[in-house]
Amino acid sequence: MTIEIENELSTREIEDRYEVGVYSKREVTIVRGEGARIWDDTGREYVDCMGGQGAANLGHANPYITAAIEKQARTLISCPEVLYNDTRAKLLQKLVEVAPPGLNRVFLCNSGTEAVEGALKFARLLTGKTDIIATVRGFHGRSMGALSATWEKKYREPFYPLIPGFSHVPYNKIEAIRNAITEKTAAILIEPIQGEGGVYIPSDDYLPALRQLCDETGVLLIMDEIQTGVGRTGSWWGADHAGVKGDIMTIAKSIAGGVPMGAVLVDEKLPEIGKSTHGSTFGGNPLAAAAALAAIHYMQDYDLPGQAAEKGEYFMSLLRPLVGQEGSVVREVRGRGLIIGLELKHKVVPYLKALLERGLLALPAGPNVLRLLPPLVIEREQLDFAAEQIKAVLTQVLD
Ligand SMILES: Cc1ncc(COP(=O)(O)O)c(C=O)c1O
Repeated sequence: MTIEIENELSTREIEDRYEVGVYSKREVTIVRGEGARIWDDTGREYVDCMGGQGAANLGHANPYITAAIEKQARTLISCPEVLYNDTRAKLLQKLVEVAPPGLNRVFLCNSGTEAVEGALKFARLLTGKTDIIATVRGFHGRSMGALSATWEKKYREPFYPLIPGFSHVPYNKIEAIRNAITEKTAAILIEPIQGEGGVYIPSDDYLPALRQLCDETGVLLIMDEIQTGVGRTGSWWGADHAGVKGDIMTIAKSIAGGVPMGAVLVDEKLPEIGKSTHGSTFGGNPLAAAAALAAIHYMQDYDLPGQAAEKGEYFMSLLRPLVGQEGSVVREVRGRGLIIGLELKHKVVPYLKALLERGLLALPAGPNVLRLLPPLVIEREQLDFAAEQIKAVLTQVLD
């Protein structure tokens, strides 16, 4: 059944008229996707290096996900967590199988910001302390707790007063964190690579030093893997590269193959989290659980983390020559696996528009970083196409 609505307005006019208007939209109406390709309403094809802002790691219309959703939708969609459910139980087993060892206690929710909220509440519960240390340029979401940990002023300021007890220290400076810890500190909340803030990769010794600092002081380490997790960096979890795991880990974005889901994973060595301290109507719903179960199976069957590592190296080898090239506006290329940032000498927005015109979708990360988060199933020819467009556009000055 297709629902058609009689209308004189275009899709864009309707969205512009009826949405509250918090998004700056690109001039394109997307109607279909397959793998790393998407199509607009005129039939034009694009290579997708936006990747659903990290929610499309498994590619659009992934056959494992569509089959799992269809089957589960015919069986059972709603089942609150106060009742046991077979699909959810299978997902939990599978999720802890791929999670860092020991992160065996799971709270399921519906988005990244909700996962961060859960992690913050659990950190307070588990330590009896209130304060959280986050980082300059860190991004953790837009709900009030997560926003209190997010650094960017323009997201925060309109909503003051935020939750007290949050501080921000420079990223990749262990001494700054050491100096910020007080007797009230419950946890340090950190991204293994800062995504939204500009694709910043810490030095190899930073996360191990942070782990050691947390062990020495009893402060909990919350690893926000919402953007870096689920294979994106070439390993299951972004902090794997440093051989480090958090006491609490947050995940979301691609964990259910693009269907909304978030999760908080808590180390089994921590005390029990009490009944009725947290909850969610949709959390652990069988539809999202079936999608997540299928997503993890697909990632294992096709070794998506391995694919991300290999393709990321290839993609960056095509992009790195832009640094120092005559006429190029690229200052630096940074990345790990398929999270890649190109720091530009100019504002990124005009370049995003020019890339769109050439059939490539990409993201910003801060004012002057071009961020690439393609589906991990992207093909080599599509990476070649993307690199060609990027080279053509980033060798001119646009405003
Ligand atoms: C590291 C990190 N944490 C949290 C979030 C918030 O996730 P969501 O947009 O699903 O609320 C994001 C989103 O980009 C993120 O990158």
